Amino acid sequence: MTDPLVLCTAEAGVAVLTINRPAALNALNANVLLELEACVRGLAADSALRCVILTGAGSKSFVAGADIVEMSTLTPRTARHFAALGHRVLAELEALPVPVIAAVNGFALGGGCELSLACDLVYASENARFGQPEVNLGLIPGFGGTQRLARRVGAMRALELVATARTLKADEAKAVGLCLDVFPADTLMARVHEIAAGIAAKGPVAVRAAKAVLRRGLDGPVGVGNALETEAFANLFDSADAREGMTAFVEKRPAHFHNA
Ligand code: CAA
Repeated sequence: MTDPLVLCTAEAGVAVLTINRPAALNALNANVLLELEACVRGLAADSALRCVILTGAGSKSFVAGADIVEMSTLTPRTARHFAALGHRVLAELEALPVPVIAAVNGFALGGGCELSLACDLVYASENARFGQPEVNLGLIPGFGGTQRLARRVGAMRALELVATARTLKADEAKAVGLCLDVFPADTLMARVHEIAAGIAAKGPVAVRAAKAVLRRGLDGPVGVGNALETEAFANLFDSADAREGMTAFVEKRPAHFHNA
């Protein structure tokens, strides 16, 4: 039996997805994308889920891009299907109802950088490298890199990165906003697990509402986003968790949330 191309484990509400193709630096071919999609769909249906961590197998690479060997055989028609598949899977990952954390443990190039852009929070190891090098191949990003990158780092920086194919070291990636923080490689996963456990301990209904409102608000005018926030804020007063959180504060004790 062949190894899964994406590993999925879960403990205490924190799922870890690992792109598992280290011999090819975890490059994304169609099969990897389909396995990732199946894992993401499984997680989307899990009401006990609190947080997701996404990383790459091995110590060298998060994801070194879309699979160039596979792409070299594509025609315009099959390339459209491949890009559509990448977009669909990354959109499903982005739409997971809980925060998704990228633990970027090495190369995050091309489709790998785009995968990190579909995550809510990004942390990197000191050996991480970010970039959109597609123009080196005579291509452009095909999994949302022109769009999510511009929204995350601004249009000017995004075009600079795409047009020059410049690779950023981890501290430069942090400076431009591609990751939140940089940790020594041997502590990255432990630090990210700590962050995920911290999120998992908060009011689960509220964390899901926060992500939903923030994500949906980004797609429209600020007034519409603020209206969404008002609605979600008010609805939370119907949740047992909000009652418990506020009562616990008043009673000077820790809150015990039940995802309700
Ligand atoms: N696709 C397919 N295979 C890849 C790959 C990729 N994107 N990146 C690395 N590999 C493979 C290599 O071919 C090599 O395989 P073999 O051992 O069978 O030869 C193996 O992974 C190890 O890679 P290297 O020997 O090249 O490792 P290195 O340390 O010398 O270099 C690297 C590492 C700088 C990341 C280099 O591998 C590289 O430049 N990779 C390509 C990066 C890239 O251009 N990514 C963008 C792809 S296009 C894209 O992603 C389009 C999109 O938006 C959808």
